[in-house]
Amino acid sequence: MNYSEQKSLTTRQPRQLLVTGGAGFIGSNFVHHWCEQYPGDRVVVLDALTYAGNRQNLAGLEEKANLRFVQGDICDRVLVDRLLQEENIDTVAHFAAESHVDRSILGPDAFIRTNVVGSFTLLESFRQKWQNQGQPRDYRFLHVSTDEVYGSLSADDPAFCETTPYAPNSPYSASKAGSDHLARAYYHTYGVPTIITNCSNNYGPYHFPEKLIPLMCINILLGKSLPVYGDGQNIRDWLYVGDHCRALDVVIHKGQPGETYNIGGNNEVKNLDLVHQICELMNELAPDLPVAPAQQLITFVKDRPGHDRRYAIDATKIKTELDWEPTETLAGGLRKTIEWYLSNRDWWQPLLSQEYQAYYQKVYA
Ligand code: NAD
Ligand code: DAU
Repeated sequence: MNYSEQKSLTTRQPRQLLVTGGAGFIGSNFVHHWCEQYPGDRVVVLDALTYAGNRQNLAGLEEKANLRFVQGDICDRVLVDRLLQEENIDTVAHFAAESHVDRSILGPDAFIRTNVVGSFTLLESFRQKWQNQGQPRDYRFLHVSTDEVYGSLSADDPAFCETTPYAPNSPYSASKAGSDHLARAYYHTYGVPTIITNCSNNYGPYHFPEKLIPLMCINILLGKSLPVYGDGQNIRDWLYVGDHCRALDVVIHKGQPGETYNIGGNNEVKNLDLVHQICELMNELAPDLPVAPAQQLITFVKDRPGHDRRYAIDATKIKTELDWEPTETLAGGLRKTIEWYLSNRDWWQPLLSQEYQAYYQKVYA
């Protein structure tokens, strides 16, 4: 019996969630998922609205009584304490982070601050609340992390599993590794019911234009070159964001405190092959492209420093223990994603701001 079947047979206690980074890409998809599945739950979004945060991602939900949006910083201990008390939070879903590897190479400071110090601030505040309430059994702190903490695989290596040693290679992944270790330590030292998830590359609606898939879609629509780093043979495993949100839902409800779950899409693909697939779909779905066929725009550019060669996830544990597996194929998920970018120009056009152009120049000039 899967979780949704069990859910309909049992009485579920409403939860009071704090979703950090809920105006970002995965966080906002998660908020949409949660509000749809559990309309009786209280959802408080805490987001600093950095360049990557966008209130538009929550449009339509904010008017609902059970969602509260708070613009604020996860490093602000006073604010976090107040929200946990005021809203009687029992569940934290922690997405807030600086998330882009290229930006971490240009300037690591913000990554250490938000990803390490911010995660620590949340854990400390949550520990205090949980202890003051008499350590309730149903409290959860979900720490959303990445497969990048495990480092880089060569072509024949087995996929990352939950016991793979950490070997982060970028300032981004090192900062995420630091926060994972803190979440783990809070369970082992204090018994705080933390759970860590490490997942592969997400894609889907509300993905900020700087990341590979939206960047390629948008550049094709603008007739701009498609920058492929190095030889384009690096491999990533792609997970449709809706599948990820379902996995996190299952982990919150059925996951064991103190455990780690790897979440993957079973979709390993070389970057260059992925870019070709995007071009094919764009040629088919977008009429009047400025440059067609879009493949002509592919350009090899200087490689990312320290570029990890391959990521792959062994998701056996979450499948066998929690009965979750991804349902979206890469072809199906890409088609849906491209259709979304085609119908939501109003969402992405304003994001190509002067600030974004300055960033783009720095990385690609
Ligand atoms: P994102 O960059 O799209 O969103 C991050 C959000 O966090 C933004 O809304 C931003 O405003 C907010 N934020 C940043 N600093 C903050 C601070 N100090 N206080 C409060 N809010 C702050 O990121 P994403 O791609 O949605 O990733 C979400 C989480 O999932 C991250 O922890 C990331 O490491 C992890 N993750 C992402 C992927 C992926 O493919 N995108 C894969 C694995 C894990
Ligand atoms: O694996 C999970 C991680 O996936 C998350 O933890 C990160 O938050 C998320 O940003 C993502 O990291 P990547 O570095 O893998 O994603 P990105 O979209 O930046 O790049 C994907 C691949 O494409 C990577 O091998 C680099 C390459 N690339 C990327 C860009 C932006 C290019 O070749 N050209 C580009 O312009």
